[in-house]
Amino acid sequence: MIIMNRNTSPLKPLSEEQIIKVVQNTNYNQYPDQERQRFIDIYAKAYDLNPAEIEVANGSDEWIQKVIMTLGQNGVMTLNPDFVMYKVYTEQVLPEMLTVDCESDFSFDFVKVVQAIKEQKPSLFLISNPHNPTGVMFKTEELQLLADTMAEVDGYLVLDECYIDFAVDYERPQGDNIVLLRTLSKVYGMAGLRIGLAIAQGDTFIRINSINHPYPLNSLSLNLASELFSDQEKLAEYKNYQFESKRQLEKALAQVEDLITIKPSLANYIFTYGDFAVDLAEFLIGKGFLPRTYDTPILKNTARYSIIRLDDYPALNQAIIEWKDKH
Ligand SMILES: Cc1ncc(COP(=O)(O)O)c(C=O)c1O
Repeated sequence: MIIMNRNTSPLKPLSEEQIIKVVQNTNYNQYPDQERQRFIDIYAKAYDLNPAEIEVANGSDEWIQKVIMTLGQNGVMTLNPDFVMYKVYTEQVLPEMLTVDCESDFSFDFVKVVQAIKEQKPSLFLISNPHNPTGVMFKTEELQLLADTMAEVDGYLVLDECYIDFAVDYERPQGDNIVLLRTLSKVYGMAGLRIGLAIAQGDTFIRINSINHPYPLNSLSLNLASELFSDQEKLAEYKNYQFESKRQLEKALAQVEDLITIKPSLANYIFTYGDFAVDLAEFLIGKGFLPRTYDTPILKNTARYSIIRLDDYPALNQAIIEWKDKH
């Protein structure tokens, strides 16, 4: 099966030589102190951030769990749909997750979102931007409104920027109640190494870090991540491959845009919906491609496809045309 349901990179970013070098030079008989700081410094430099405002954990997944535990005492709210793990982690510690449903075209009415926050006064709002599953990027004004409304109810806004490297840079909302989450699982191709980052300021940073382990990540993952940033040219080429794959994915699905609705996406996946969306996904499963389909009622007529190797597009295109010819 060709994986299209995880939003990960189809290729590994490091050469065997790089991996061997890192493994040989990693002092895994010692606790990972310097390795952590070295990676944080490298990441901060790459994104022009303050290293004192960054911490790492096992994937942004662990950060989601940690922000819920440290900031979510009085309720956690999100959009419906959004990343499925927000609900899973919330329901580990709270009776239920508060949600605001999308419109029929899977967009969101921020007037309704603000109203829900004012009524229910959650202490934490989680939102992915670009949004999972639709791939849409929210406007700065919408996010600022969210941050300000959360501040009014003494709450926090977590902006999950898991897919931000596939999007254009944007003006972020301002506020000391904002936490940004990032990951090396997507454009950096290291999902298995579990490297997630949180970025926040002042008291917010102190609060989200109040339940940390002394060594949040292992030395091998940290050193492999640092190695990734050491060759900027190779890294740019690696990212460009994925951007090209996204263009190919757009072209592949555009062949059936008269049969399914396709959301313009700023992430490494494309969201489709409509009466025939699941039919296409199921047909493609029969041809060896595995898109994401959903059990949740709001997503029942939808399917999401993530980028694959460039070599796999001829077969995907052929399968899509075969399906189109039947309709
Ligand atoms: C929006 C969003 N946030 C977080 C994650 C988790 O990423 P990580 O591998 O860093 O735990 C995902 C994974 O698919 C995601 O889609």
